[in-house]
Amino acid sequence: MRGNFISRRILQRFRHLAISSVGSVKMKLLLCCCIAFTFVLIAGRAASFMAWTHHHDSLRHFPTPRKGYTILINTWKRYDLLKQSISHYASCAGLESIHIVWSEPDPPSDSLREFIWRTIKSNSRDGKDIELRFDINKEDSLNNRFKEIKDLKTDAIFSIDDDVIFPCTSVEFAFSVWQSAPDTMVGFVPRSHWVDKSKESMEYYTYGGWWSVWWMGTYSMVLSKAAFFHKKYLFLYTNQMPTSIREYVAKNSRNCEDIAMSFLVANTTGAPPIWVKGKIFEIGSTGISSLGGHNKRRTQCVNKFVGEYGRMPLVSTSVKAVDSRNSLFW
Ligand SMILES: *[C@@H]1O[C@H](CO)[C@@H](O)[C@H](O)[C@H]1NC(C)=O
Repeated sequence: MRGNFISRRILQRFRHLAISSVGSVKMKLLLCCCIAFTFVLIAGRAASFMAWTHHHDSLRHFPTPRKGYTILINTWKRYDLLKQSISHYASCAGLESIHIVWSEPDPPSDSLREFIWRTIKSNSRDGKDIELRFDINKEDSLNNRFKEIKDLKTDAIFSIDDDVIFPCTSVEFAFSVWQSAPDTMVGFVPRSHWVDKSKESMEYYTYGGWWSVWWMGTYSMVLSKAAFFHKKYLFLYTNQMPTSIREYVAKNSRNCEDIAMSFLVANTTGAPPIWVKGKIFEIGSTGISSLGGHNKRRTQCVNKFVGEYGRMPLVSTSVKAVDSRNSLFW
């Protein structure tokens, strides 16, 4: 009887001990699990990031679609910049064709043609055939940049100035964004507009440069100095946009053909453009945009075009397209 009691006590004691130790083991197990899980999570992130960066070259380039894009490059007596740009872009995977908008009184020299042609041959990927065309214009007009091109090889146009260079990775990323929204203008240089409240008489708009985009985080245009758009907009710009707008662009030399294009696309789509994050390298001296008074003239252009359209077609947005492989945290 007594022996039985003692053994029962011992058993109870033991059970109690066992329970409490099971409890602490559980806690420890849970803690270990948490730590292990956190570790696995971090390691996984890091590993996948490493894997992506490691395979950069093969994955960098999106599967090249059936059709690539055409580079439409605007140039004016800056042959070094032109050569530099073209030798760079010739190596980009999706490039099918290069159109150089030529508005100088003299046609391109044979040596320049020869040089560019050779550059393309030696820099293109796997000796791919890239078309090269000089689109020669008789008169010097800013509208030349958006002249209709009859036999374009691709639907996509990458419109570019000769004094900025974007790495192929940025260009191809922007191209893939454009493919998701081929009616939209997709570019690297955002600009904005807003209603000027100080003028009560009527709607008066102000053009906003880079700093206002940076400050407010919204934009309503992407400039054609670095943007993708559909080739149909060349047709519309040349043939359907009101003549008065083309005349204004040509006569006043106000450098606002790019604003005219933004208006045209916005009026057609009723939607904002898409700003794509990309690395920009400026190779020329800073152009007209850094001069004082530039924004004032741009503001005049905006208001002139609002008058022509009878309304403000530009739509503001704060969406920015970013290559998710390059952002470690999301
Ligand atoms: C703007 O778009 C409307 C509707 O799509 C069209 O009727 C009009 O002609 C366009 N305006 C201009 C100036 O192109």
